[in-house]
Amino acid sequence: MPSLENKRIILGVTGSIAAIKAPAVARELVRAGASVTCVATDGALQFTTAEELSEASGQPVIISIFSGQEHHPPAPSSSQRRGSDVWHVHLARSADAMLIAPCSASAIGMLRTGIYDNAVTLVAASLPKGTPLVIVPAMDEDMWLQAAVQENLAWLKRHGVFVIEPVVGKLASGLTGMGRMPEPEDIVEKFARIVAPASSPVSGSANGEPAGTPALQGKRILITGGPTYEPIDAVRFIGNRSSGKMAAALAIESKHMGADVTLILGPTTPFPLLEKEGVSLRTVGTAEEMLQAVNAETATADIIIMSAAVADFAPEHASEGKMKKGAGETMTLTLKKTPDILAEISKSKRPDQIIVGFALEKGDEAEDYARKKLLEKNLDMIVMNNIADEGAGFGYDTNKITIFTKSGERIALPLMSKEQCAKEILNRITILP
Ligand code: C5P
Repeated sequence: MPSLENKRIILGVTGSIAAIKAPAVARELVRAGASVTCVATDGALQFTTAEELSEASGQPVIISIFSGQEHHPPAPSSSQRRGSDVWHVHLARSADAMLIAPCSASAIGMLRTGIYDNAVTLVAASLPKGTPLVIVPAMDEDMWLQAAVQENLAWLKRHGVFVIEPVVGKLASGLTGMGRMPEPEDIVEKFARIVAPASSPVSGSANGEPAGTPALQGKRILITGGPTYEPIDAVRFIGNRSSGKMAAALAIESKHMGADVTLILGPTTPFPLLEKEGVSLRTVGTAEEMLQAVNAETATADIIIMSAAVADFAPEHASEGKMKKGAGETMTLTLKKTPDILAEISKSKRPDQIIVGFALEKGDEAEDYARKKLLEKNLDMIVMNNIADEGAGFGYDTNKITIFTKSGERIALPLMSKEQCAKEILNRITILP
């Protein structure tokens, strides 16, 4: 699990019965190295106490939107002293991330509609842009299935809130069903993957697991990358400018995270680092060859990441030798569609398999197209780059990506190196529901 060392975390606790587990969540956060400030609603305090939260976090607990009503008031910092009425702004600005566990159905509705009249939603609303907000819904199954709750969650995900999904299990009502809050150590593990620096191939033994267990240990990852070249004749081809850099970065980062990695790479410049890192490399030329190579590997792959820029069309017949220029001013090539490798493999996707696609889009409707492909190609995640973005896409060492997940999350990332993008993508994969 990535370490939360030196991270300042706000733990919001709202009025779901699962709040009885909130002190254990605080303790897990502290064990992972975080400095934790708990903020609780009145509802939360029906199920846990400020004393328990304070004891678990080692810090005073905020129990009211009025800063004077803290449990064990902390010595205010100079900025808090200057403006204690806006304590929530100072607290939110000093945090690296906020976790709301449990997040009740009402709190979800309040966050969605902008109702900030309790301490938890008030602090959440005050988080600066870019500070992650992670919520852990917990409620009875019938509440969980309410259209309002599901729509509110979908809206929050689209607006950048991370959701750690509830699990099926015994509920407070005595019934068994969906809506149970995951165990505190599972919550903190997923939370750390969202919040901690993306690399984190190995981490400490904060939760008792052996130090150095990489996040993708034991997983088989299949990655495609680079362009494909579709021959016109013996010397000419139809291709594109894809460099394969994104795929190479994904392969190397996957290795660092403990995976067994196969990279199927179209014709591009060699990446000597791949073999040094132990990536198993297969090189192919055409879309058809890439399809054959992918088909040979899919059955044993746990995660498939298709970042290749496969040519969409190939000449219907490749001429033998070198085609003559001829006397005419124009020439006509008949093209046929290449196989859509991603669409093909996702038809026989196993329920336990994760498939990630890429989408290079342009214009205002880029996101709509990417979302449509996510659905149509039955993907768990799609990584979009907009060709209008400076420094992003083919050939560059940097990329600007937006990630969409099947469960509705939208994560827009700034321009960053392709290595950093790879880390972000892989980290998001490890926390997919
Ligand atoms: O439909 P579009 O080509 O935009 O989809 C892009 C995604 O589909 C990428 O993940 C790419 O690797 C994959 N793809 C494919 N085979 C094709 C075309 C695209 O696997 N022939």
